[in-house]
Amino acid sequence: MAIPIKGIILAGGTATRLRPLTSVTNKHLLPVGKKPMIYYPIEKLLGAGVEDILIVTGVEHMGAVVNLLGSGQAFGCRFTYKVQDEAGGIAQALGLAENFAGGSPIAVILGDNIFEDPLGPAINAYLAQKGGARILLKEVEDPQRFGVAEVRGDKVVGIEEKPTVPKSRLAVAGIYMYDGGVFDIIRRLKPSGRGELEITDVNNEYIRRGVMGWDLMKGWWSDAGTFESLAKVQQLVLDSPPKNTH
Ligand code: G1P
Repeated sequence: MAIPIKGIILAGGTATRLRPLTSVTNKHLLPVGKKPMIYYPIEKLLGAGVEDILIVTGVEHMGAVVNLLGSGQAFGCRFTYKVQDEAGGIAQALGLAENFAGGSPIAVILGDNIFEDPLGPAINAYLAQKGGARILLKEVEDPQRFGVAEVRGDKVVGIEEKPTVPKSRLAVAGIYMYDGGVFDIIRRLKPSGRGELEITDVNNEYIRRGVMGWDLMKGWWSDAGTFESLAKVQQLVLDSPPKNTH
């Protein structure tokens, strides 16, 4: 059953940390278990009933991505593709999705985030909250590698991007839900110290407005952007395969 939210998978970036694996291909095409990495976020969206999916990737490997995925017919969905000319951060890549979103709510997944929980419950909770944004948090051992959320009571009161002294162990997963207002927020962003438009700045704006919901992930979650995390994900996928339905 289709639900009134569109899906966006951000699969760009140069993935320099995974060279030479990524010298001639896109990180999101690397094998994880028996599938290319990008199948996992696609299957999460499909399992939640999302049928319109935008894939954003760099110009170098767009051909390979389209070759692999096609129109979406084989997956029972519709794919739209958008080229990111240069890696300028997650929020910059998301900004390219404005026409595709057309004012609809969106569920955004970073293409290298692999996780166990089905996405349906979080998406349904987001649709029930009527606008604003929603993030997924996961307690981790190494929060300084991620965006880190500070939670007071039942509210997220702030997120710090890769803090040296994290205020909690709650990492912000690369799974975000936004209303149509996100593109105005992105337009007003200034590049961070690392020269990127940061998704954390987008999320902090929703927090400032008091319209940020969140869920704690129950199952495992990992990114796959380093040799260490990629190896970890291979094992997790084997030991406890991701669930797509709920
Ligand atoms: C990005 C976000 C960070 C988030 C992480 C999840 O970091 O900036 O807030 O916790 O994805 O994978 P990156 O790994 O792109 O530096």
